[in-house]
Amino acid sequence: MPAESRRVVVVGTGYVGLTTGACLASLGHRVVCADADAAKVAALRRGEVALLEPDLHELVRDGLDGGRLAFTGDTAAAVDDAEVVFLCLPTPMGLGGAADLAAVEAVAGQIRHRLPAGCVVVDKSTVPVGTAERVAALLGRSDVPVLSNPEFLREGSAVHDFLHPDRIVIGGGDPAALDRVAGLYRALDAPVLRCAAADAELAKYAANFFLAMKLSFANNLAVLCDAVGADVSEVTAAIGLDPRIGPAFLRPGPGWGGSCLPKDTHALLTACEGAGVDFPLLRATIETNVAHQHHLVDRIAADLDAGGRSLAGARLALLGLTFKAGTADLRDSPALAVARLLRARGAVLVAADPALSAETTDLSDLLTLVEDPTEAADGADACVVLTEWPEFRALDWERMAGHMRGRTVHDPRGVLDPDRLARAGLALHGLGRPR
Ligand code: UGA
Repeated sequence: MPAESRRVVVVGTGYVGLTTGACLASLGHRVVCADADAAKVAALRRGEVALLEPDLHELVRDGLDGGRLAFTGDTAAAVDDAEVVFLCLPTPMGLGGAADLAAVEAVAGQIRHRLPAGCVVVDKSTVPVGTAERVAALLGRSDVPVLSNPEFLREGSAVHDFLHPDRIVIGGGDPAALDRVAGLYRALDAPVLRCAAADAELAKYAANFFLAMKLSFANNLAVLCDAVGADVSEVTAAIGLDPRIGPAFLRPGPGWGGSCLPKDTHALLTACEGAGVDFPLLRATIETNVAHQHHLVDRIAADLDAGGRSLAGARLALLGLTFKAGTADLRDSPALAVARLLRARGAVLVAADPALSAETTDLSDLLTLVEDPTEAADGADACVVLTEWPEFRALDWERMAGHMRGRTVHDPRGVLDPDRLARAGLALHGLGRPR
């Protein structure tokens, strides 16, 4: 046990909550994770983790075995003797794009009379500026400070990101409460930034907006590279060495998506409108993403046309549907957005994804989901790689070519090896890479 082992309650066991709970337990704190979903709680008590998140399963097991981690369906009772309560609740896109705070507000109502005096409540969910204040008002407890401590975890590397953070941001007005929350992370080697709650809340949105902006930039840059005969990977390598720019988040693809960037950029846009602030860069970042997906579909259609086929009625093999590799998450997946555009223009879609199977994922109104990429390639007029699973690079492309009717493979993420495709007699159409 560390010198300062705290009694922590984490409300919500999504990938943020469960990662937070399991990692804090691994740092020696005594953690109870509460969730309203009884079936989920029962599975977690058995050490079963439904999320595809490296090392999380092991941490949950270790925490359960070591008696430092427990799960409950009774949120109100769980907070009875808590020293710190983290709210890790969904804040989906609500009406008009604003973050929907219903879950946060409901839990605040459930726990307000059960929180012990001096307990600290911490918003970890991505929430609009002013939410810490709003939660404090809902709790109506002058003896319970409310802080904001946003997470910057990526799905698929959440445990690594939690245990090796770039920074820890804690916002709020009560110095003792800030100390207590900072103390939870003492074992981690990262700068701790203390600020006002509004600063911490906005920092989370600003970070995700900036990342999305970089991606929209990279995608437009790739289109420009195609138009002028430059290679986007060379251009981004060259600019990325400037520390003011940095090399990360400049890989082009079929647009950005996932459970966070789309909802957070929309929520920030709504917040800007509410505050009477015009932020054209934010609007352009979102609009560029949509336009980029239309552009990709136009390119696929133009290629088919050039080969005497039409997108309407063409059979396309889609490789990858999740919003990025290493996750089974389909929320706001750019691959699905592209698939919908293709379908709307009459293409017949057969898809394979290493994380998905037709038994557990029903996408039958959009496409046929098969297990094996070669099955997806059967009779395909073209193949489109939409998620950067390394499995696709390692495929037997000669075999794939044998199943396909057409000869073209679109690879907007640059996953595939051009030489291997050339050997298989396939034409590789990347994005921002000279052919
Ligand atoms: C994102 C942020 O990266 C995290 O810092 C943040 O904590 C998290 O949202 C959140 O708010 O909870 P995540 O949604 O897991 O994390 O996904 P990313 O790894 O950021 O990827 C987002 C999208 O951008 C994916 O569709 C991905 O394929 C795409 N992407 C990413 C690219 O197209 N190119 C890149 O170079 C990087």
